[in-house]
Amino acid sequence: MSILIDNIGELVTNDEGDGLLGIRRDAALVVEGDRIAWIGPDTQKPAADRRIDAQQRAVLPGFVDSHAHLVFAGDRAAEFGARMAGEPYTGGGIRTTVAATRAASDDELLANASRLVGEARRQGTTTIEIKSGYGLNVDDEARSLRLASELTTETTFLGAHVVPAGHDPDAYVDLVRGDMLDACAPYAKWADVFCDRGAFDGDQARAILQAAARKGLQLRVHANQLVAGPGVRLAVELDAASADHCTHLSEADVTALSGSSTVATLLPGAEFSTRSPYPDARRLIDAGVTVALATDCNPGSSYTSSMPFCIALAVREMRMTPAEAVHAATAGGARALRRDDIGRLRPGARADLTVLDAPSHLHLAYRPGVPLISTVLHNGVPQ
Ligand code: NIG
Ligand code: FE
Repeated sequence: MSILIDNIGELVTNDEGDGLLGIRRDAALVVEGDRIAWIGPDTQKPAADRRIDAQQRAVLPGFVDSHAHLVFAGDRAAEFGARMAGEPYTGGGIRTTVAATRAASDDELLANASRLVGEARRQGTTTIEIKSGYGLNVDDEARSLRLASELTTETTFLGAHVVPAGHDPDAYVDLVRGDMLDACAPYAKWADVFCDRGAFDGDQARAILQAAARKGLQLRVHANQLVAGPGVRLAVELDAASADHCTHLSEADVTALSGSSTVATLLPGAEFSTRSPYPDARRLIDAGVTVALATDCNPGSSYTSSMPFCIALAVREMRMTPAEAVHAATAGGARALRRDDIGRLRPGARADLTVLDAPSHLHLAYRPGVPLISTVLHNGVPQ
């Protein structure tokens, strides 16, 4: 089946067109099956089986949320309330979610994760990465990833989220890079480690990530969220696709990122929800680092599935221009997942896109909190 989307006021391609976003005006686009078949001037549009009139509104690539933790049970609203009354975020609440997750059935976990994927989809997200990390034993990590793989191909093994209560850290590292990795690798595309204060140090993280790479997993790292530790430089050393958070960066971290193909994935929902200083996106962009934006959706540090919210935060709090933020939420996320079939609209790309209920991408930051996603196509199918 083919679909013509015509009468597009502003088409964000992240490809050929004006400026960073590759904007084309008065454009039309044809989808054939799950791919984009044609993009051109509205005056030259071909016929198709079905037509969507964009009514001079904006059409964008679907958002690529390259960092989310959706396999969990329960919530931690009380912890959020305490933080807003002055408590710091330490990551210690992860163990609360681990207990709830282990106690939940497969059906409960899948229903909760599906609910969040649906929420994200309605807000324009067409690709979402999902991590394990609330199981923290062989069976519960493997089951988390098996369930995640029912919802996305972008699955990430995060057995090294924290050391579970009552475990010796070194013995736990050996478990993660041994039996746990063996059980999880069949369901995981990526491996990740929370390399930060109170979680895993650089040597522990390196040992786990190297073992995962030997198993054929690609790498990403939770890095420098709480302190300017070794995570970012480790990510670059191991050619990880992404160093995520990047809240506290030394000059050496920025230099390392700028000479690498590792994306800095910024997660402003986490700073919002932990009342922490936001990462310095300007410093990274000005140094030539590729930046992605993602939600970090999880019940502790960032319980939002909304990429438009993250775009608005990035513009208002991180001195990103609206164009930079939209680019980071689409093409940046695709780079963070090392995908070239998503994040941009061009012939041959996957037909993942959104029609905004607004005339331009600017409105995503200009009208924060307002639902502006009018239509979502995922794999060419209207949602
Ligand atoms: O990315 N920082 C580590 N992991 C998550 C938080 C998980 C939680 O608090 O439950 C994050 O922010
Ligand atoms: Fe995270």
